Amino acid sequence: MEPILEIKNLTCGYQQEPVFTKINLKLYPGQLSGLVGPSGSGKSTLMKAILGLIRPWGGEIWFRGKKLNPGVAPLKVGYVPQVETVDWNFPVTAEEVVMMGRYQRKQLLPWASSSDRAAAKRLLSRLGVANVAHQPIGELSGGQQQRVFLARALVGQPDIVILDEPTSSSDLHVQHELLHLLADLNQEGLTILLSTHDLNSVATHLPWVVCFNHGIISQGQPIDVFTPATLEQTFGAEMVVFHQEDRILIASGMTTLRHQMKRNLPHILHKSKAVSD
Ligand SMILES: Nc1ncnc2c1ncn2[C@@H]1O[C@H](COP(=O)(O)OP(=O)(O)O)[C@@H](O)[C@H]1O
Ligand SMILES: [Mg+2]
Repeated sequence: MEPILEIKNLTCGYQQEPVFTKINLKLYPGQLSGLVGPSGSGKSTLMKAILGLIRPWGGEIWFRGKKLNPGVAPLKVGYVPQVETVDWNFPVTAEEVVMMGRYQRKQLLPWASSSDRAAAKRLLSRLGVANVAHQPIGELSGGQQQRVFLARALVGQPDIVILDEPTSSSDLHVQHELLHLLADLNQEGLTILLSTHDLNSVATHLPWVVCFNHGIISQGQPIDVFTPATLEQTFGAEMVVFHQEDRILIASGMTTLRHQMKRNLPHILHKSKAVSD
């Protein structure tokens, strides 16, 4: 099978030092993959390069067998940004946010037709947020905002959707629902790449993971990839992995715990002294 997205020798950075150098990655049609790594490891940078939001320093990105122009947004790639990075004071309703995704697709006609509206409505109901269609986006909950942004990405009928930390700010129940929704969309044929630093509630539930820390460390199914050695290399901390039937649980290893204790102990002692005083 031909990859839908292929990254060849990609180097990206902002100032002097590159964030990553000459990385290679292939994503195949219908894959649901997690880009897993600690904060600051370059996950968003890689996603932004794919989306044409930053210009790579070197290398190439191929989409469906065609080389993308550096710094230009590919039309068939949808994007759901990290909710923390969005300016929610922007005075638009949920429905208008979704229709922005439609304008991007047919750049010459920046007004909404009735079919645009119908498409936006359909998606908002599919994603369970039709009831907030006419509310200002800034007034919605984090989980609702995320679904509205997912609807915006889907309205352009993309072949692949890229979600940056879609589960970072929401509670466990919301995270779980979103993962189910993404799994359903994936079953219908959508290729999905999402980033996460959260191992247990997100990464271990994904069918395919790419461990990332300023470069690709390993990739495969969580059961094969999440070994203590790979996790230590990815997160720079000792971790232990428990297997129970087909489930995986990852916890900090003793060295990490001792380190955390040492760091927090003076603070805890200080507090308990203050209480006993
Ligand atoms: N706009 C920017 N200007 C300069 N440095 C940046 C910018 N965005 C990210 N960085 C730096 O690039 C590195 C990777 O960041 P990022 O891709 O956001 O990581 P992640 O998404 O894994 O948390 C970090 O050191 C970060 O400080
Ligand atoms: Mg990020």
